[in-house]
Amino acid sequence: LPPARIAPSILSADFACLGEEVRNVLAAGADWIHFDVMDNHFVPNLTIGPMVCEAIRPHVGQAPIDVHLMVEPVDALVPMFAKAGASLISFHPEASRHVDRTLSLIRDHGCQAGLVFNPATPLDWMDHVMDKLDLVLLMSVNPGFGGQKFLPSTLPKLRAVRQRIDQWMQQGGQPIALEVDGGVKADNIAEIRAAGADTFVAGSAIFGQSDYAASISAMRAEILK
Ligand code: DX5
Ligand code: ZN
Repeated sequence: LPPARIAPSILSADFACLGEEVRNVLAAGADWIHFDVMDNHFVPNLTIGPMVCEAIRPHVGQAPIDVHLMVEPVDALVPMFAKAGASLISFHPEASRHVDRTLSLIRDHGCQAGLVFNPATPLDWMDHVMDKLDLVLLMSVNPGFGGQKFLPSTLPKLRAVRQRIDQWMQQGGQPIALEVDGGVKADNIAEIRAAGADTFVAGSAIFGQSDYAASISAMRAEILK
């Protein structure tokens, strides 16, 4: 497995001082900043957009900003987030009329491209676009809110994605990161790692604690056990 990455979701950070939150969590050992975009249409919640991404970019330094779009439609936001400093942009395939085109659009704007799978979304969506994927983001809750409980039904699905990616790379395909999002914490991160994830989103499990470094180290320790 590729080395593990921790991607704190700023959905659970203090929005009144996001710059400071982002600096603190990176100083505490985070690898990526996970940026949740909700539109009150694809999901029943409303969060942040390209302006906030641009505002935090100087506070993030060299770390990647991992934009998770929970919006419909997708395409108009891609150039805006690329300009705002996004490093990776992922979207839900059922939210785009032309999945292949949206993936190309993301790469054409200099970002890495990802597809996001809800717990009930079939993996078939990736069949014909493997060469256009830099990331698969597997939801382990239904998207829309932080602090939900990890759905164990997503573990077999995670193993299936790992298998597909490994097979693809054995055939000479480009590397594809495998990220899990929703209900991840120190308690369950070991089994999620064992099922094949290399990148771990955690919102409430990190920002809900006073000591970010302790939460992140606890997660890393569980992964290395
Ligand atoms: C859920 C978001 C997640 C969320 C995770 O719709 O995509 O990134 O912030 O939060 P936790 O880790 O609290 O489940
Ligand atoms: Zn997310």
